[in-house]
Amino acid sequence: MMANTKQVTFDFSGQVAVVTGAARGVGRALVSAFARSGAQVVAADRDAEGLAETCEPFPHAVHPVAADVSTPQGAQHIVSAALERFGRLDICVNNAAVAPHTALLEETAEVWDRVYAVNCRGTFLMTQAAARAMIAGKHGGRIINFSSGASRRGGPGAAAYASSRAAVESFSRVAAIELAPHGILVNTVSPGLIDTQPKPLPPVMAQALGARIPNLPLARPGESDEVVNVVLFLASDAATYIDAAVVAVDGASSAGSRFSGSVVDDDIRYDWVTGRDAREEGRRFSNDG
Ligand SMILES: NC(=O)c1ccc[n+]([C@@H]2O[C@H](COP(=O)([O-])OP(=O)(O)OC[C@H]3O[C@@H](n4cnc5c(N)ncnc54)[C@H](O)[C@@H]3O)[C@@H](O)[C@H]2O)c1
Repeated sequence: MMANTKQVTFDFSGQVAVVTGAARGVGRALVSAFARSGAQVVAADRDAEGLAETCEPFPHAVHPVAADVSTPQGAQHIVSAALERFGRLDICVNNAAVAPHTALLEETAEVWDRVYAVNCRGTFLMTQAAARAMIAGKHGGRIINFSSGASRRGGPGAAAYASSRAAVESFSRVAAIELAPHGILVNTVSPGLIDTQPKPLPPVMAQALGARIPNLPLARPGESDEVVNVVLFLASDAATYIDAAVVAVDGASSAGSRFSGSVVDDDIRYDWVTGRDAREEGRRFSNDG
């Protein structure tokens, strides 16, 4: 099934947005969408080369900052760049993440800590630095953090990644409550499988996805713009009463697998276990009446 991704139009003229993880994937698409919607954007990533490619089409509206979100200095540097270059901060999208997958029995403390440093500490540090700038600016703001459908599944190899994403959902609820008095809304976007990997895929990944994709409810991965549209909505004037929400952009993959077309009647399953004949029982009950 093909995606039918529509370009949705928003107007962020006069607003300043920070996007982390901007060197590729969803982050790159976010930078482009915010810039095309009139925002001035600080695009941040630790990959300076990829970042330069993202920013190249927007020499005036987008300011690249090579920094590591997992350090206090890196997070502060990104937020300070927005204030110094564009004079204010309205929107902060904490999209940067790492997702190494390892079997639990082989997982190392070093990799575990790295995942938490970027995905959790980075989200905390960016949220804190952005919120301080927004409070000083006295005009509220929007913070949009990233989780994953993996946070609700027991996907093999995802112990560090999935739990780090669940932590972001929990953190964002606390941040929403604490920052609401300042007019700052904090929400989390939880994507399902999104097609962001450079092609060609490594054979092992192509094989795994080839088996997984037909079982997704829509039998296709999402596209970056399908996530971007939801982030822009949450950052926009259309979403003034959405706060502390976790918004799934996953084509129903957190609800279940692709419907095969056959429904198993729960009564029949029950009869198979008990050996009773439901139709007989049904007759008996209706005769009782
Ligand atoms: N792609 C998917 O299928 C999928 C599924 C669920 C959730 N997500 C979430 O969506 C978001 C975007 O996914 P994606 O596939 O575009 O990611 P990606 O891996 O393609 O890009 C992540 C970016 O973050 C940057 N980054 C990593 N560590 C950083 C650090 N310490 N400081 C600064 N930048 C850093 C990387 O350099 C990279 O450019 C992530 O938060 C991810 O967890 C993605």
